[in-house]
Amino acid sequence: MMIKPARSLNGEIHIPGDKSISHRSVMFGALAEGMTEVAHFLLGADCLSTISCFQKLGIEIQTDGCIRIHGKGLHGLRPPASVLDAGNSGTTVRLLSGILAGQPFSCTLSGDASIQKRPMKRIITPLREMGAGIAGANETDCAPLLINGAPLHGIHYQSPVASAQVKSCVLLAGLYADGPTSVTEPSLSRNHTERMLASFGADVTSSHTTATILPDPALVGQKIDVPGDISSAAYFIAAALLVPNAEVLIHDVGVNPTRDGILRAAKAMNADITRLNEHQVSGEPVCDLLVRSSSLSATTIEGGMIPALIDEIPVLAVMAAYAQGTTVIRDAAELKVKESNRIETIVTNLKRMGADAEATEDGMVIHGGKPLHYAQIDPHADHRIAMAFAVAALCAQGGAEILNPECVSISYPEFYRDLISLYS
Ligand code: S3P
Repeated sequence: MMIKPARSLNGEIHIPGDKSISHRSVMFGALAEGMTEVAHFLLGADCLSTISCFQKLGIEIQTDGCIRIHGKGLHGLRPPASVLDAGNSGTTVRLLSGILAGQPFSCTLSGDASIQKRPMKRIITPLREMGAGIAGANETDCAPLLINGAPLHGIHYQSPVASAQVKSCVLLAGLYADGPTSVTEPSLSRNHTERMLASFGADVTSSHTTATILPDPALVGQKIDVPGDISSAAYFIAAALLVPNAEVLIHDVGVNPTRDGILRAAKAMNADITRLNEHQVSGEPVCDLLVRSSSLSATTIEGGMIPALIDEIPVLAVMAAYAQGTTVIRDAAELKVKESNRIETIVTNLKRMGADAEATEDGMVIHGGKPLHYAQIDPHADHRIAMAFAVAALCAQGGAEILNPECVSISYPEFYRDLISLYS
């Protein structure tokens, strides 16, 4: 896919629904009694993987128009007839493992080549501590995961990583435990599981970086309106900031404080972003974002801020390459175990375009302000790398060519159409 440079960008855009919330709406809807109806569900490949796993577990899910999940309650899942396929989705594997650990049946959960390389020890360890039978095939700590459902015990888990997938996995297993289960993380990760499970009727409490759940709640089906995904909005925020004479209005973006690090980092970089029409949608803060071209300056991104923008680091790195000064990203070793090794894929592709960037053990250093030029970008099948470099192309001499561009369908199938609609 050839992305041409843009002289200016103008217009309004509605971005697709939040991926994290879409996954959870299916999972929690399946475990609730009665129907859950989901508007603005993200029909990306990852969320479709979650739907197909729950269909295999005996849940009826209608996908025409609004998504309807016919929940069967906490104990209504049925043994699947074949391997559950999570595709490329880490959220599906890790959260579903927590649910499957407490079922009265065994099954196998796997996914594509990338998923089979991603670390699962982070969920195997706490689930085993709860009494679960879970192991990676062939003595590895990776998928395929063989899960033998078992009676679970409540634990307090001190997680070594700030990961919402780990936290959510343990809390979901906690629904099937014999007492309270809590998770403390080094810094707060996204809290959609806590918010949403509470709205379905679970007893979940949060204090600082600890979340606690009580077992065996009666979950009740809900109506959910999924906010726009700030992780997808990030590409349009960056595009409008970088392209000269740009003004873009992005509607209905979820701005949960555990997810809005991109806005805080952009502000520190001197970005012109105005929040309009702030309101709540299904218990999540939402607003419109008016973004105008800005002269960006470098910043440092580190510490407790990282989980609030972990998926936005590829596009923040692109912003940093065009900003004046040296941007340092640290405490972000988690980037190495995402859909690709993002430290490597970001730095390699930035260098191909002429940027001055170097990888570090836990992040990268980018000396911004050098003009970028045409290159072929290999996203390594990572949707966020493809989209971040499509944004880089907008201001690069000669644009850029994204190889295997269709990987964006993981989280944003209509990305290129929406981006091109703003060219003026
Ligand atoms: C997600 C959590 C994050 C994020 C991923 C979605 C979630 O992963 O990178 O895209 O929905 O819980 P980690 O929990 O591994 O940091």
